[in-house]
Amino acid sequence: MSYKTLKDFDLRGKTVLLRADLNVPVQDGAVTDTTRIDRILPTITYLREQGAKTLILCHYGRPKGQVKPELSLEFLCPVLAKQWDVPVSFAADTVGPQAKALADNLAEGEFGLLENVRFHAEEEQNDPAFAKQLADLADIFVNDAFSAAHRAHASTEAITNYLPTCAGLSMEAELNALNEALEAPERPVLAIVGGAKVSTKLSVLNNLVQKVDYLVLGGGMSNTFTYASGTDVGLSLCEKDMADEAKAIMAKAKEHGCEIILPKDVCIVSELKEGADHEYVDRTAIPADKEAVDAGPAAAEYVAEVLQKCKTVLWNGPLGVFEISPFDFGTNTVAKTVADLTKDGKVVSVAGGGDTVSALENAGVASDFTYISTAGGAFLEWLEGKTLPGVAALESNKKAA
Ligand code: 3PG
Repeated sequence: MSYKTLKDFDLRGKTVLLRADLNVPVQDGAVTDTTRIDRILPTITYLREQGAKTLILCHYGRPKGQVKPELSLEFLCPVLAKQWDVPVSFAADTVGPQAKALADNLAEGEFGLLENVRFHAEEEQNDPAFAKQLADLADIFVNDAFSAAHRAHASTEAITNYLPTCAGLSMEAELNALNEALEAPERPVLAIVGGAKVSTKLSVLNNLVQKVDYLVLGGGMSNTFTYASGTDVGLSLCEKDMADEAKAIMAKAKEHGCEIILPKDVCIVSELKEGADHEYVDRTAIPADKEAVDAGPAAAEYVAEVLQKCKTVLWNGPLGVFEISPFDFGTNTVAKTVADLTKDGKVVSVAGGGDTVSALENAGVASDFTYISTAGGAFLEWLEGKTLPGVAALESNKKAA
């Protein structure tokens, strides 16, 4: 991968347009998880120390080109100021006179936040004229939003045609970690993919079986594979209409020398609720009136055994219904094994996408992984082997500094 980084620019006195992903979870007006805000602190600190005047550009929610006051970004200014320990001023528009006034009033080392870029329909249309309007506010474009890089939008892609462009420090860290996990990993590589449905992860599975040495399947999707292998799965979540796709993935895995690992045993219940009566049975012995909701101890032990041989681990999706105790057993046990191996320096572990982060946080080991991506859709598209437009635009930016 070749792209410019912050170190390639003299930033003093320059106006920087920083694309961030501050699409953070909010409940009753309060941010419930500041991870995305905290992740870009190194970039913020660097820009401040270098004396850049920084305009922060981001989306929030999906207003679909309409101005929706409830999706205004203004409420974030005090939160950013607190987390980053710098004052952050606000412009009530993303382009035009208010944005220009914000840019003009910034002194070296100061920060301003532009209004939600998705209030303009041209953003999602990747509109060149709108991108030019954004670009006219600044001297340099810095993209620090890997988690929005799967969108070919004006603020992630078209803008790079009008400004010298580089990756921010968090984007750089993310690209390095992902590269180390899948593009140029130390082998053997073991990927763990869980979650409810095969149908939502078909492309991910198809790509991974060509690239990894072991593919551990868990969650509802492993039932579909068990079913496709000729065994009934009782009342378990199972996409019977995906059996042919599952068989094709198994055949492709064989062709590429990838071992697919289904849970040796599963936890079965009659009713899925907190603390429900449960037992562990072989995955081929699920009674007709029970459902599998988690991987069992034998499954976790086998994965732990295989993990001892591995150098790289990639994780997406929980192995069971981790939100309901004790059906977080499988996810927690395997997560702890990966965390311990990481702490001992034996594996590089990268996780991300969807509810993976909360599953690993629930296991109490998220901070022990080598890298946890905050990206949802972007992480999955990367696992699918797709080129992310926001990353491709960084690589192709030819505009001189
Ligand atoms: C995310 O939260 O995954 C990113 O901010 C992208 O959001 P989007 O799916 O609305 O484009």
